[in-house]
Amino acid sequence: SARRDLAGFRVVVTAGGTREPLDPVRFLGNRSSGKQGVAIAEAALARGAEVTLIAANLEIGEPAGCDIRRVSTALELQQAVTDAANGADVVVMAAAVADYRPADVSESKLKKDAGDVGMTLELVRNPDILAGLGHAPHDGTLLVGFAAETEPDDDRLLELGRAKREAKGADLLVVNRVGWNEGFARDENAVVVIGHDGVVVTRAHGTKMSVAEVILDVVVSESTTAAA
Ligand code: C5P
Repeated sequence: SARRDLAGFRVVVTAGGTREPLDPVRFLGNRSSGKQGVAIAEAALARGAEVTLIAANLEIGEPAGCDIRRVSTALELQQAVTDAANGADVVVMAAAVADYRPADVSESKLKKDAGDVGMTLELVRNPDILAGLGHAPHDGTLLVGFAAETEPDDDRLLELGRAKREAKGADLLVVNRVGWNEGFARDENAVVVIGHDGVVVTRAHGTKMSVAEVILDVVVSESTTAAA
């Protein structure tokens, strides 16, 4: 890339989706492929950043040149991102993190009982990792969250994004619409980036790489504003 506008930046990106084990062979997961997060990591690297990629069950290859930390569960991701965020200039939380995990993880494969017609799983809440970072002191670290929403109405989608940015204490929140045919595992994405006071900083659509570049443009301009 011609632009080396992230030279000297330490960027942390979480990508993929967490898996919460039920037993040695089963998990609760989600359809996040990791493509958007990996595109952000690759683009940041090309723009000169030092990149730590926290990779949760990626369905695509890991980019070369990043410091990669592989995690699987939300609690592992929390540990890895909390460590890496220390002293980072930017943290991008692109990973889809499970809100709940099974209350108990069975040591052996769960069996069905003859005659069972169903079963109930008990789940407990996972910590909100982004909110944890957002509500702790993080001077000098720009926090970028994501929100995958199925809301079809554009105004309501924006409202959800604004509320989420505020609640989590993120500096920027990237909202994208997901569904059976949008968002996850696709090569293209359409996003709205929300900033402080709920302003729509920009909208972007196209390949996940082009969306990554636009998000990083915002990161660069927010960082120079903050430093000025
Ligand atoms: O609340 P919701 O899951 O929609 O928020 C999405 C954003 O919050 C993403 O940036 C995701 O990485 C982050 N998140 C988190 N910890 C959770 C759930 C989501 O950090 N337990």
